[in-house]
Amino acid sequence: MKVAGTIDEIRSAVAEARLAGSRTVGLVPTMGALHEGHYSLIDAAREGCDFVVVSIFVNPAQFGPGEDLQTYPRPLEADLAGCRARGADAAFVPQVEEMYPPGAVTTVHVAGLTARLCGANRPGHFDGVCTVVAKLFNIVAPDVAYFGAKDYQQAVVVRRMVRDLHMPVRIEVCPTVREADGLAVSSRNVRLSAEERAEAVALAESLRLAQKMVEAGARGAAEVLEAMRRQLDERAPCGQVDYVQVVDSESLQDVEEITASVVAAVAVRFASVRLIDNMLLTPPRSPKA
Ligand code: PAJ
Repeated sequence: MKVAGTIDEIRSAVAEARLAGSRTVGLVPTMGALHEGHYSLIDAAREGCDFVVVSIFVNPAQFGPGEDLQTYPRPLEADLAGCRARGADAAFVPQVEEMYPPGAVTTVHVAGLTARLCGANRPGHFDGVCTVVAKLFNIVAPDVAYFGAKDYQQAVVVRRMVRDLHMPVRIEVCPTVREADGLAVSSRNVRLSAEERAEAVALAESLRLAQKMVEAGARGAAEVLEAMRRQLDERAPCGQVDYVQVVDSESLQDVEEITASVVAAVAVRFASVRLIDNMLLTPPRSPKA
């Protein structure tokens, strides 16, 4: 596996691969501290593309003041070993100055969609995400880029950016990988205390409760949200709920009636660790008369 630290190096590696016959290049953007969630994206890229690039870059632009940029885990050697083991062809591991040369003043802002859910609690976060993802697309020029459904809003926002800016890349969104008890796998889970870890499963449980209610015929978002909140309050007393919302799966606007496919999304803070999760709620089709 080629390990590239500079833009020139990764561009050359991709160009060489294309010359040697690779027809499709897949990109898996990550911030490292790789786990089974990330590896599932690498597996999907390996399956779908001839040449697979994994980027590992803790992007300062998407962290707000007081967020965990300094303490974000950076186990680079283990990450590279993991990429190798999962069959990646190249890892792009740039320094901050390589991605943000002094004097860079251009950012990408996707309006509307980013004001909601996580965007409401993390101002500027999605500008940071979109700017770095646009840079990575320009640097690697992938045919396909892989994102996780775990960060649902991020996937929707990136899709919109690609559509609005006519970027020639296909966005694949892969299912959320979960621990045995249902907790979505995340680099931040290791920073939970034993008690918080036990409570953290309440995020997934509240989403499953929402799904069950919808399957059983509930259609009012208010009723579902109230049950989710009650469950979170009971099962995760150490957690502080940032939001619990039921939104349209594309516009991310709140819905009152659960009629088509909508997404239930939660964010809960345990001390300094903020966890998010979401689930599609699809009402069963009514039987034909
Ligand atoms: P990071 O948090 O490292 O996640 C990289 C990718 O892995 C994202 O697309 C995320 O949705 C996916 N992922 C994380 N946990 C997952 C899980 N349990 N199941 C499936 N996929 C999972 O998201 C980012 O980095 C950054 O914002 C980035 C896009 C790299 C831009 O800096």
